[in-house]
Amino acid sequence: MSASAAHDHALAPNDLEAFWMPFTANRAFKKKPRMVTGAKDMHYLTADGRKVLDGAAGLWCCNAGHNRDPIVSAIQAQAGELDYAPAFQFGQPKAFALAARIAALAPGDLDHVFFANSGSEAVDSALKIALAYWNITGKGSKTRLIGRERGYHGVGFGGISVGGIVPNRKFFGSLLTGVDHLPHTYNREKQAFSRGEPEWGAHLADELERIIALHDASTIAAVIVEPMAGSTGVLPPPKGYLQRLREICDKHNILLIFDEVITGFGRLGFAFAAERYGVVPDMITFAKGVTSGTVPMGGVLVRKGIYDAFMQGPEHVIELFHGYTYSAHPLACAAGLATLDVYRDEGLFERARALEGAWADAMLGLKDLPGVLDIRTLGIVGAIDLAPAKDAPGKRAFEAMDRAFHEFDLMIRVTGDTIAVSPPLILTESDIGAIADRLGKVIRAVA
Ligand SMILES: Cc1ncc(COP(=O)(O)O)c(C=O)c1O
Repeated sequence: MSASAAHDHALAPNDLEAFWMPFTANRAFKKKPRMVTGAKDMHYLTADGRKVLDGAAGLWCCNAGHNRDPIVSAIQAQAGELDYAPAFQFGQPKAFALAARIAALAPGDLDHVFFANSGSEAVDSALKIALAYWNITGKGSKTRLIGRERGYHGVGFGGISVGGIVPNRKFFGSLLTGVDHLPHTYNREKQAFSRGEPEWGAHLADELERIIALHDASTIAAVIVEPMAGSTGVLPPPKGYLQRLREICDKHNILLIFDEVITGFGRLGFAFAAERYGVVPDMITFAKGVTSGTVPMGGVLVRKGIYDAFMQGPEHVIELFHGYTYSAHPLACAAGLATLDVYRDEGLFERARALEGAWADAMLGLKDLPGVLDIRTLGIVGAIDLAPAKDAPGKRAFEAMDRAFHEFDLMIRVTGDTIAVSPPLILTESDIGAIADRLGKVIRAVA
């Protein structure tokens, strides 16, 4: 395209062509866009003046709701005070303050924070820290990484290698070598319509023993799982499963990483799912809710022993050859500090815990609607499996998402034929009622 054509192109008001949208059916969107132009608290706003109830907290991230004044002001003030500072060899105070605040929310001795800019980068950082840790502690043969089927750990090569969502992997070559996967924990026959953590399935953690027997613990660096698998369609962990994984990793000297990009910052009623389950992993990856989605940020919480192991050798030498230009970006740090204040001052984690029962009742109340195969709930998360349309997997849920937005003023997420809902944690009982009511209408409309 010539420069002048590009200029004209950029000015064309309704041309949606240039933006290749991520994880989107581009052609369908561009024919009939689901466009938002503003947001406040529980709602997105559209150009034609509609208020769309946010049943998804954006992408599981706006836990404090939208355009909250204290967070907006903090970002605005920061932009005027210190726009950017390198985090390599230099610092700015809010990075240290935020790391300390996040560490204080984490259980056990998860005392150190490495900052990245997304969940994907957080995951790659955690996997690299695990490999480097064994390398520097004289156990360099421990290089294998164990993920889980149906796991989602972002889209970096590390994340898709340990992840277990087939379309996210199959187009992208041979991925990292030396990766194995635990089985996923879902069994509809045994678990359908269970509330919270299903009774059945803790024994699936013992599959880790089988994998260790196959490869030997001396070759395994780390196991990474989401405490609740989110993106695959919401799979709450079976009762006792995560505790069992911790025991097996301890027994064999393998690091355990919880990917809490979704479950962190109140989604399950606690700062981290690790606290809900009484399990201290060796690392926790986080993103999304740390800034309530306002400015990109991710990171890894690391146990003291791991951090300390790196703090050796001559003091002028870099201890970990890893980091991002935008690690601990000042705008993200300011947003993070203000977000954590909102969570604390409004008691949003406790609020999520208090509303969990009413939320589960509302979700499970949709059980008898036509075409509903299963409903799962945990914290302020719900998932509804719809019967797939004949010969067109994913089409029914896609239609549900589209019609929810255009006809019922509700934003939801879908994966395959599963609807996932995860509203901001500022929701009220009346919002729960409205979400359930609109979901019911959507499900009937696409049945
Ligand atoms: C558990 C988990 N890990 C990692 C990611 C990737 O995060 P991002 O999209 O910020 O790279 C996600 C995103 O949904 C996630 O749910």
